Amino acid sequence: MALFFRINSRRCLELQKLSSGVGIRSLSDASVDLKKIIADKIPKEQERIKAFRKSHGSKKVGDITVDMMYGGMRGIKGLVWEPSVLDPEEGIRFRGLSIPECQKLLPKATNGTEPLPEGLFWLLLTGDVPKDAQVKAISEEWASRSALPVHVTKALNNFPKTLHPMSQFSAAITILNSESEFVKAYSSGVHKSKYWETTYEDTMNLIAKLPVVAATIYRNIYNDGKGIGSVDAGKDWSFNFSTMLGYDDPDFIELMRLYLTIHADHEGGNVSAHTTHLVGSALSDPYLSFAAGMNGLAGPLHGLANQEVLVWLQKLRGEIGDNPSDEELKNFIWKTLKSGQVVPGYGHAVLRKTDPRYTCQREFALKHLPDDSLFKLVSQVYKVVPPILLETGKVKNPWPNVDAHSGALLQHYGMKEMNYYTVLFGVSRALGVLANLIWARALGLPIERPKSLSTDQLIKSINV
Ligand SMILES: CC(C)(COP(=O)(O)OP(=O)(O)OC[C@H]1O[C@@H](n2cnc3c(N)ncnc32)[C@H](O)[C@@H]1OP(=O)(O)O)[C@@H](O)C(=O)NCCC(=O)NCCS
Repeated sequence: MALFFRINSRRCLELQKLSSGVGIRSLSDASVDLKKIIADKIPKEQERIKAFRKSHGSKKVGDITVDMMYGGMRGIKGLVWEPSVLDPEEGIRFRGLSIPECQKLLPKATNGTEPLPEGLFWLLLTGDVPKDAQVKAISEEWASRSALPVHVTKALNNFPKTLHPMSQFSAAITILNSESEFVKAYSSGVHKSKYWETTYEDTMNLIAKLPVVAATIYRNIYNDGKGIGSVDAGKDWSFNFSTMLGYDDPDFIELMRLYLTIHADHEGGNVSAHTTHLVGSALSDPYLSFAAGMNGLAGPLHGLANQEVLVWLQKLRGEIGDNPSDEELKNFIWKTLKSGQVVPGYGHAVLRKTDPRYTCQREFALKHLPDDSLFKLVSQVYKVVPPILLETGKVKNPWPNVDAHSGALLQHYGMKEMNYYTVLFGVSRALGVLANLIWARALGLPIERPKSLSTDQLIKSINV
């Protein structure tokens, strides 16, 4: 009995030690030097993972079935992703914090009520909830790194207006890699233990520049290229982005702070996150890795769904008007399904409940625009769609995801250009996937290379 107790308490201690890593939130460190904070955490985290793998490296975490291999690898646990974890019932947790907890705990702008994305980035990277001064330091740092090289501005100004904003966004990010510190360090033969340092520099530069790239695209396509103004070093990232886009309504700026926070990360298996990680694992620089992720975000089953929702709602309004009855709405939804289309903004590969990112946008709408006609329509769709998707008998999650709501909010504040919406998503997504890339380099994760089989081999392998 005594031996049993000793062994168990030793195991408990061991587990406690293993689980107290970067994910522990502490408010004690007041330094505003984010890079130094990461530098201090890296060796501890490396040790923790080394110890974990030494004791448990051969343990099984799941089985793989034939259906999983043909089914988009759904449910296969095959990736380590540090910044966030997605629970099917509860939704996303950023370093353990839910969206409502982030809304409560993360620093806000003066007179603001929504979290600043700078604070979320700090949380995703360090596991700590930052203080106001730390977030302010990030705002200032991003402002100071925001200038675009001339060749990128020129390329953006030369794109035809007809080129989709996401293509422009991805292309501009790709050619921004002329600035990569990682590339310079790699070609000068820097030791691999230092790869994370220049990945950090590239990340900070890229995140700083994304609003300028995105605003230039917006102004070029929809505003005859009229000047985007300049970044104010005394203001936050979302404020500067909003004003460069041409929006100075304080409520729109608050919406942007919320929007850029909630779209940042959704664990590692989604297309944009996984692609950034995969391409990054070949030691492609952060610009190339993130641009690849953006090409995935541009797909209609992923980030482009926020554009598709608006296209679908417009079609709906065109056919059955602004105030349809539930019956008219049901018929329209069935028509969509029978024509072999998906209902955009509904369903999810992992979630099995209403996406909390949808819920917090709904709460924003209830607070700021309760009488908006499009918001009312979105609410009616929320009531009518899920039972219909359940009735099809095949949709695993009939509930709305993040994309079902965002467009309606943007429309309210005058951003009517739905082709552009995925770019906003992309600016936010940088925060999560690049935070993870820094950790992937710090932990020395290898090139990703899962094994594939042909159908013939697969059949042989299970002895049919
Ligand atoms: C997100 C999405 C791609 C997840 O795909 P998934 O994991 O394969 O989803 P499921 O396992 O529930 O799919 C089972 C079936 O239901 C269908 N389905 C899922 N969501 C659907 C929707 N919103 N409308 C109609 N059919 C849907 C699938 O197309 C699939 O049909 P099939 O067997 O004929 O191929 C899917 O729900 C979808 O296409 N949603 C609409 C696009 C969207 O909002 N994307 C943004 C996601 S954040």
